[in-house]
Amino acid sequence: TANSLKEAYKQYFLLGTALNRGQIQETSAKATTLIAREFNALTAENDMKSAYMQPVKNSFNFTESDKIMAFAQKHNMYVVGHTLIWHSQLPNWLSAITDAVEMNKAIENHVTTIVKKYKGKIGSWDVVNEAVEDNGSLRKSVFFNVLGEDYIAKSFQLAAEADPSAELYYNDYSMTNPTKRAGVIRMVKKIQEQNIKIDGIGMQGHWHIDSPSIADIESSIIAYANLGVKVAITELDVSVLPSPWGQQGADINQNFENNPTMNPYPNVLPDAMQIKLAQRYYNIFKLFLKHKDKISRVTFWGVNDAQSWLNNFPIQGRTDYPLLFDRDFEPKKAYQAVIDVA
Ligand code: XIL
Repeated sequence: TANSLKEAYKQYFLLGTALNRGQIQETSAKATTLIAREFNALTAENDMKSAYMQPVKNSFNFTESDKIMAFAQKHNMYVVGHTLIWHSQLPNWLSAITDAVEMNKAIENHVTTIVKKYKGKIGSWDVVNEAVEDNGSLRKSVFFNVLGEDYIAKSFQLAAEADPSAELYYNDYSMTNPTKRAGVIRMVKKIQEQNIKIDGIGMQGHWHIDSPSIADIESSIIAYANLGVKVAITELDVSVLPSPWGQQGADINQNFENNPTMNPYPNVLPDAMQIKLAQRYYNIFKLFLKHKDKISRVTFWGVNDAQSWLNNFPIQGRTDYPLLFDRDFEPKKAYQAVIDVA
């Protein structure tokens, strides 16, 4: 059997991880050794988002993104640029724009400068992230509020001009929800009808131990691939904790922060749950293999359980176990399941 994830899947699709800046420092040798051994694709967990890339208008900061590029180059890894146009983790100056001419200029400068900077070095860009709401309508982001739907196609066009060799993706969560899916498909078709390049759709894959079902994931992979684009699973993790979505009031943290039922495994994940997580990952990867002709890449959102964003989202301070490596960087049963199914 294969002795790494990337080895196990090398004939099928790229196998990636998100990287945060702590992990490429020398103090994290355990993390960097493991990343180089197991993965062949890298996404910056935060450092290529607009607040970091252009904190001040017209003043770009490539210090951290350059470190990520250097790490990837050293280990011969494919790099995903994440992300150009997103409503979250925005710099204040950009959130404050209300004028259409100014917004068009800002998008043009942001997309063109960054994509050109890494021209030929980024395998694919998440050009637009999370532009569709769960009800299928377009999100009322600052971009939409100032420019309407046009900002989406325009961003793809600018990225295509700045680096014709990079693949361009639309990326979002809850991509298995049929209402949202219809909205995404409508939006992507509109880009295609204008003859603007879009190469792929990213399903983030922030999933749960019992949902979405394998059947729902499958129908979405097929529906997106039917648009004639590649499908990537871009931010995979499987939470074992109860989700507060759908049962929350106005403020999730206020309602659930100190509620022990929302943090059932504060110290260790019981064996039965460890096994259930392994089975869930087995079924998910079995499905990915069934559709390997449609899937370009599967990227995990983080390396080990300790640094997963899910320990703090959507409720602060929980203990989650969503990845393949435990808090000591040791492979979990779920790791073996993913290797075994290949
Ligand atoms: C998350 C990071 O993991 C966190 O560290 C950060 O605090 C917030 O953003 N969808 C995305 C990712 O596209 O960029 C988000 O990453 C998770 C949800």
